[in-house]
Amino acid sequence: MKTYDIVSIDGDGIGPEVCQAAIRVLRQACGEKRLNISPYPGGARHYQRSGQVLPEETYQACRQSDAILHGAAGMPGIVYPDGTEVGNDLHLQLRFKLDLFANVRPIRLYRGVRSTLADWQPGQIDYVIVRENTEGLYASRGAGTNLRGEVVTDTLVMTRKGVERVARFSFELARRRKGAPRDGKRRVTVCDKANILRSYAFFRAVCDEVAREFDDVEIDYAYADAITVHMLKRPDFYDVIVAENMFGDIISDLGAGTVGGLGIAPSGELGLDHGLFQGAHGSAPDIAGQDRASPLATILSAAMMLRWLGDRHADEALVQDAARIETAVETVLAQGMVVPADQGGSARCSEVTEAVCRLLG
Ligand code: IPM
Ligand code: MN
Repeated sequence: MKTYDIVSIDGDGIGPEVCQAAIRVLRQACGEKRLNISPYPGGARHYQRSGQVLPEETYQACRQSDAILHGAAGMPGIVYPDGTEVGNDLHLQLRFKLDLFANVRPIRLYRGVRSTLADWQPGQIDYVIVRENTEGLYASRGAGTNLRGEVVTDTLVMTRKGVERVARFSFELARRRKGAPRDGKRRVTVCDKANILRSYAFFRAVCDEVAREFDDVEIDYAYADAITVHMLKRPDFYDVIVAENMFGDIISDLGAGTVGGLGIAPSGELGLDHGLFQGAHGSAPDIAGQDRASPLATILSAAMMLRWLGDRHADEALVQDAARIETAVETVLAQGMVVPADQGGSARCSEVTEAVCRLLG
């Protein structure tokens, strides 16, 4: 039976406790032998001690790994001279160096979770935001200009290669899904501001070209401002949304907010040869080390990791393990006995983790 080399990077703040919680669940689900999980350092605190936010040893291990599981990174106050946060470079360097071009963010309302959108029920909100993850406005990370403290610029960059591949990924994802809850239609919604900027008009035009390869998937369009209203008023219309990097960053938090918040929002950052899996939340330093964080976003991200590995290696057992973890999380939430604080309960990180593990047998 194939074993997989996983790099784990605890990171900062609540990162260690949620990452270790997810590893505990992975071992419960897959057994001790399937996953060789090796911890590596990185993040803002590591930078404070060593001057390196992503040590070369960590990067090389990630490059050679089957997948990467990450807790969280970033600490307020640990910033570069230009004012940007150091810890975020752990994600960003891995995204750019490993070319993790599709940031996949499921937005799904689980049983037992109250949506902030009144009257929407589990099953009615179930879509995926695919955020282009290597260019867009983020291409200017560390490259913006600051002219004498008077004029600053950050440039939005798009390439045909970058837009084509994230669009094709999105249409292929929609082809594998069962369609939007509202009408069962396989649909890709292109989120942009094509009405205003040429770069977004280019984004839309390239998505249109790719759409012609998928006559079984409908293409739909929404401006980035308008989609924030649609995501609140008609979330069941959406199946897959594809967006440029910065827009994807913003609307994925809005989407998470409609299905329980960032504490239950997983993410998978995928390239052709690598995958980085982490909760979509931050390092929450205010509750770090108190066993108060919800581990569910990272546990669901770990399930995404198993499913991705299982699909890539035709390893059905791993896909089944992923499904068992997702079902265990949903059961814990639906039972309502062990509820994390961000969902209105008082259960500790360790208690939620053990409740999930108990259901995994
Ligand atoms: C996210 C986060 C990151 C981003 C930060 C932590 C670098 O907000 O993954 O959504 O801005 O992409
Ligand atoms: Mn974000």
